[in-house]
Order: sequence, then C-alpha cells, then structure tokens
Amino acid sequence: MNEYVSVVRGVGGHLPARVLTNADLGVMVDTSDQWITERTGIRKRHIAADGETTSDLAAAAARKALHAGGLGPDDIDLIVLATATPDYTFPATATIVQNKLGITRGAAFDVQAVCSGFVYALATADNFLARGQFERALVIGAETFSRIIDWSDRTTCVLFGDGAGALVLERQDKAIAGDRGVKSVHLRSDGRYKDMLYVDGGPSTTQTVGHLKMIGNQVFKHAVSKISESVRAAVDQAGRHIDEVDWFVPHQANMRINQMVAHKLGVPEDKVVHNIQRYGNTTAATIPIGLSESFAEGKLCEGTTVLSAAFGSGFTWAGAVMRF
Ligand code: ACO
Repeated sequence: MNEYVSVVRGVGGHLPARVLTNADLGVMVDTSDQWITERTGIRKRHIAADGETTSDLAAAAARKALHAGGLGPDDIDLIVLATATPDYTFPATATIVQNKLGITRGAAFDVQAVCSGFVYALATADNFLARGQFERALVIGAETFSRIIDWSDRTTCVLFGDGAGALVLERQDKAIAGDRGVKSVHLRSDGRYKDMLYVDGGPSTTQTVGHLKMIGNQVFKHAVSKISESVRAAVDQAGRHIDEVDWFVPHQANMRINQMVAHKLGVPEDKVVHNIQRYGNTTAATIPIGLSESFAEGKLCEGTTVLSAAFGSGFTWAGAVMRF
C-alpha cells in the first residue's frame, strides 16, 4: 500500500479593500491609537464592504493559492474551510466557495474552531490526503468578524478585521516527497472556558447571530500558556528541535502574546512573523495570510520548516509543523 504525505503546493491571501484605522475607531468609541498600538500592536484592519461575504474573500484567496501553485480549480477534489462567520447557517461556506470556483466534483465542508480553525482544517485535510481518499485540497481560513462585533464595545471592536487565506495541499508518495510535507499537527480543546470568549447568539439558542463577548485579560493568560503548549507538542511530534524551525507563523490575536510565547520558548524575535499591525485579528484567516505573505516575501521556499500555532474560543488550541 502506498504511503502518502500532504505537500504544500501554493498559498494565497485576500483582504477586503476598505481600511479602518485606529484613528477612525477613536471617533467611534472611547479609545486611542496609543492604547490600541501599545496593548495589541494593531494599527489598522480591513473591513468587508456591504454585501461582500466570507465566501467572496475565501474564493479570492483560493484563486491566488491555486495560481501560486500553477493549478486550476479542476485540480481540487476537497475543500475544508474554517470559519466562525459563515455566509449562512447552512449550506457550508465551503460549498459556496466550491460553486464560485466552478468545482463540481469531490467534497467541501466547513470546520469551526474559531481562531484555531485553520490548523483544525489543515489537520482534517492532511488526514484525508494521507489516507489516499482525496488528491488535492484547498484548506481555507476566512472570516467577516466585522459582522458579529459590537461596534460600541471598545474592549473588542478594536481587535478584529476581515480577511481570508488559503493553502493548496497535494497528496504525494512519501518516497517522492522526501522530507517535505505536513510533519505534525497537534489539536486540543477544553469546553470549560466558554464564558470567557463566545458569541451570545445562535440558531438553537436565541435565533439571532449575536455579538462577540470576551474577558480579554483572562483569555490573554490562557493564550500564552496554551500556544506555548501547542508549539512544544507540534515540534516534538515532528521529531524536530525548536532551533530547526525557520519561521514561526503564529495566529495574530495580540502582538504581545506572540512575543511572550517566542521569549518563553527561545524562538528568536527575527524568526517570528507579525502582521497584526496591518490586519488585526482575522481569526481563522491569520495563519494562512501570514503564510501567504511570507511566501510572497521569499521567506518560504522548498526546504523551509514552518511552525504555526493558534488559540481561540472553546477554548481550542493547536499547532502544526510543515516543511515546504
Ligand atoms: N481603548 C482604551 N481602553 C481600553 C480599551 C480600548 N480599546 N479596551 C479596554 N480598555 C481598558 C479597560 O476598560 C481597562 O480599563 P480599567 O482598568 O479602567 O478597567 C483597561 O483598558 C485594561 O483592560 P484589560 O482588559 O486588562 O487590558 P489588556 O492589557 O489585557 O488588553 C486585550 C486587552 C487587548 C483584549 C488583551 O487582553 C488580549 O489581547 N486578550 C487576548 C485576546 C485573544 O487572544 N483572543 C483569542 C482569540 S479571539 C477568538 O477566538 C475569537
């Protein structure tokens, strides 16, 4: 029987055109550029236009990832899309993206693990490819969190932005792939902490969409310890040492979280990819957007080892090591 691994063929990111700066937010709520920059690192974020949906952003990112890999929609037989802000309660946003890309074969579905969603989606697709069940997958993280933010709540509205990122994974024989591919994925969750970070609405509870609620300083402490745990576990499972990681592309919820994690684990600051300054927290999209920018800047090439880790509502947390 063939032994397969999942190899990255392409990455792409897409941000909506409209930009909301810290100064703009200072007009809307009692906040300041100084507070937001010092506490989070964020300077601006992108916000979807009226009528611009999660699937629009996702399809745009997917097209860029396919283009980067020299592939077309017909090459894809699996779409796994991570989002907490789907276009509709159903059908899955992945199927809407499938239709927008003109794909009529294979399977498409969503996964929901909020900020950890992209790593969960990566793990899901990787398992299907490793079993030989599908050949090429689009793994997408896409969000329009602007639609579930309470824009009068300064403790949350300054943190989030909209965007999407996508990665094409291809099944390859182990013998051909060599040391390339997804080397490890570590997934965790613990539902005891729901009340620290949640949306206060849903079809089965309030029949409304609801708004995001968060006890930020409590979440912050969990984020630092659990992202650190994910990093250690993913690196161990990959049979690597942290020094062998070329780039750390973490979830972007707060620049101080990632700086603390890097310091705690001895990852040099110049190996950590930050883009929260420009995009805020795009939730499931932060990691693939970070990967796509790093790829465009030439940081990621064949033989590069990348570590990603995330933490989000649930709580969920996750880490992954990939060799490009
Ligand atoms: N502007 C000005 N003041 C503010 C703002 C703001 N935008 N927001 C909060 N404050 C005030 C608070 O009211 C508080 O005032 P007080 O001392 O008078 O009560 C003060 O600033 C300090 O508040 P803290 O919440 O303790 O501030 P902290 O330094 O912890 O920063 C933040 C808050 C940025 C939210 C931080 O805690 C954080 O990043 N938390 C983690 C977020 C995260 O990782 N989320 C997980 C992923 S998201 C997901 O899964 C959907």
